[in-house]
Amino acid sequence: MQTKHFFSDPNQLVLAALHSLTLTNPSLALDSHNKIVFRRPDAPRRAKKVSVVTGGGSGHEPAFAGFVGHGLCDAAVAGTIFASPAAEQISRACIDRVPNDSGVLIIPNNYTGDVLHFGMATEKCRAAGIKTEFFAMNDDVGVGRKKSGKVGRRGIGGAALLLKLTGALAEAGGTLDEVYALAQFANDNLVSIGASLEHVHVPGRGAPEDHVAQDEVEIGMGIHNEPGSHRTKVDLVELVSTMLRQLLDESDKDRAYITRTPQDKFVLLINNLGGVSPLELSGLTYEVYRQLEANYQIKPVRVIQGSFLTSLNGLGFSVSLLKLSDKDVGAGQTMLQLIDAPAEAIGWSVPINPSTWENRIDTPVQLKDSNLDESQPSNMKLDPSVVKKVLGAGLQAVIKAEPEVTRFDTLVGDGDCGIGLKRGAEAIQALLDNPSPPLTDDIVSTVNRIVNVVEEVMDGTSGAIYAIFLNALAHGLRDQDTGSPQQATTEVWAKAIKHSITSLGRYTPAKPGDRTLIDALVPFGETLFAKHDPKAAAAAAQQGTESTKSMKASLGRSVYVGSEGDWIGKIPDPGAYGLSEFLTGLVNAA
Ligand SMILES: *[C@@H]1O[C@H](CO)[C@@H](O)[C@H](O)[C@H]1NC(C)=O
Ligand SMILES: *[C@@H]1O[C@H](CO)[C@@H](O)[C@H](O)[C@H]1NC(C)=O
Repeated sequence: MQTKHFFSDPNQLVLAALHSLTLTNPSLALDSHNKIVFRRPDAPRRAKKVSVVTGGGSGHEPAFAGFVGHGLCDAAVAGTIFASPAAEQISRACIDRVPNDSGVLIIPNNYTGDVLHFGMATEKCRAAGIKTEFFAMNDDVGVGRKKSGKVGRRGIGGAALLLKLTGALAEAGGTLDEVYALAQFANDNLVSIGASLEHVHVPGRGAPEDHVAQDEVEIGMGIHNEPGSHRTKVDLVELVSTMLRQLLDESDKDRAYITRTPQDKFVLLINNLGGVSPLELSGLTYEVYRQLEANYQIKPVRVIQGSFLTSLNGLGFSVSLLKLSDKDVGAGQTMLQLIDAPAEAIGWSVPINPSTWENRIDTPVQLKDSNLDESQPSNMKLDPSVVKKVLGAGLQAVIKAEPEVTRFDTLVGDGDCGIGLKRGAEAIQALLDNPSPPLTDDIVSTVNRIVNVVEEVMDGTSGAIYAIFLNALAHGLRDQDTGSPQQATTEVWAKAIKHSITSLGRYTPAKPGDRTLIDALVPFGETLFAKHDPKAAAAAAQQGTESTKSMKASLGRSVYVGSEGDWIGKIPDPGAYGLSEFLTGLVNAA
């Protein structure tokens, strides 16, 4: 369990977090004494609007204050971590922080402390002459009817949907009666279930004594570490299947809260309890969706994933299903319209436009992969027999040098450089020996085919460097295509190689002097470009390789190997050595 925190004082933490909402959403204000986040009275606002006031213990962020904003709640009242706010704070919110002339819906989650305090505030507001309704959200099916007894259903992740629905209806002009009726109606059509791998640690408190075993998951664990229905071994498919059964099995007398016909439409909400990585949460969404579709023939009309109602950094998630109805729930709105309605609240992070959902196309996209071998032909010519003879000679030189490269790399690297080069050389040789289709005199096409071989068989850093270099080489050759056939002369190669070296510089920090293959490649390219003399270029590569003997490594393989003293001055960089052997072999056959 994670017990380290950036904040050591939980009260300071809660206040700072509430304060942050006024920074991230300039339409909000904070009454820090009463821990009320509310919409600024001077911000634009619909006249005669019902106010929706929620709240509860802290530690469930972005709930509840994160749901305050245009189109959602009017105020949220926070307690300390996992503890209800006091009735006084709540009634202050309703009486002085939100417009109350059209009535107020007070809507916390169904926890004993919250119900008492928000209930007391409700009575105070009524006594003050404000039209007030109270609703305690209860969507959890984790603990069945028998076991839950007096505690009843609790409110968990689905609360985000209830707040969205009621907030949007109030924004659309729904009356207090309509907003209250919607809360009840939507709650009756909403089920949620959570699962956690571990209890959470509350900043400023000791670690809980109970742990969920390493190989177990607790189904139905509450958002304040309350026990769930049972623990089971972690098997993702079985876990999700159990959770969906608890949500949807109509024959489960203890739990069947909603009925279902094939026509019913659902909104699916996957809620992070705070500590699940986005990677795993997305994986969970996929599995839940897959099983809903395969086993229940439910294809949700909206899929919403994120952190909505958390339990600090809880290592768990909850699944909520809201069954939609097409009826007018007030102000001419349906439930789906209210879910879709825009809302400017930090906690309601639902980025996909309703129209994108409505225009959803279910047929899978046909993946068409273009064949890069058959790229645009070029006019740059080189007789394939020359390629075979000259390139082949270079490749044979690399293959022959393999034992020496390996010996060097065993001393200064991890020993695999020689084998890697040899594997690449042999694969290119195989292409030269048995090309299918036959090689043409289009040298750009030949280089592209070599690139494919290199990308396939050479791995590691040097494989990537060669692949980038050769891709850029093909580009450098093609760039010189004037539209009519021309031979790839030494001048043409020199220009193309210069271009490749420049391109390579964008992706590797290696420069001459860093003791890498660049120490052979750059002198070769520069000399060829300056003198158009391949033999002189190969000699420069050899010289560059020789100079690596006295270099200290700052990049590449040799950086990681200790005891430089043993080999400095004696052993060249194996990559540079292999390359210069190749270049020398190539040039001698030309
Ligand atoms: C809320 O109602 C009370 C009692 O009617 C009234 O005094 C107060 O001004 C109202 N507050 C707002 C912000 O409308
Ligand atoms: C809400 O909780 C109370 C106990 O605090 C419980 O009696 C009641 O059944 C719960 N409400 C629902 C609708 O489950």
